Amino acid sequence: RQGLVVMISGRGSNLLALAEACRSGRIPARIDAVICDRPGAAGLERAAELGLDRVLIDRQRHASRADFEDSLGAALDGLAPRYIILAGFMRVLSADFVDARPGRMINIHPSLLPRHRGLETHRRALEAGDREHGASVHFVTPALDGGPVISQARLDIRPGDTPDTLADRLLPLEHQLLVRTTALLMTRTVELRDGCIHVDNQALEHPLDL
Ligand code: GAR
Repeated sequence: RQGLVVMISGRGSNLLALAEACRSGRIPARIDAVICDRPGAAGLERAAELGLDRVLIDRQRHASRADFEDSLGAALDGLAPRYIILAGFMRVLSADFVDARPGRMINIHPSLLPRHRGLETHRRALEAGDREHGASVHFVTPALDGGPVISQARLDIRPGDTPDTLADRLLPLEHQLLVRTTALLMTRTVELRDGCIHVDNQALEHPLDL
């Protein structure tokens, strides 16, 4: 199984980076489908322009999270991807849903985890007086933004930075990080054993600096 499914809620710039890397061969995989939970998402347009299969699973048209996850699970089971990549997917998934796909879902998060889980990470990094900020790619576990971190990219916070300037400087690093991490997952043996990441059977002591 060399297929990827990318799940999005919004703009889709990380999706675009992944799609370009799959096309150029930097990531030896193909994107089998893009799943989106929001009908108006700009990322859906991008997916269409890229000629990718799109699956809209509109959260608003499902009465409950359980119903929504039933639809999502059915779509994913049909596609049977090697990895499910959350690239700006803004919904919290239940423990049952996540536990049914151990070591097969990854998420990109705009902070240096374990700092700043959740939303508004740029503002919170500034308010905390952090000198460094960044992005992390982690395995998804039931703990929100709390799964084992595979890789990180860092940047220095400068005087005068605002949430917007930080977001702008971080975005290209996110794209690079997600592409490099996905390439690693497709070319090396990366396993999650007892909550610990192993790369080619070697336990990972620290997140990779990618
Ligand atoms: C990215 O910055 C990603 O790290 C963040 O959403 C943005 C999506 O941008 N993800 C989260 O905050 C997850 N909680 P994109 O749609 O242009 O890829």
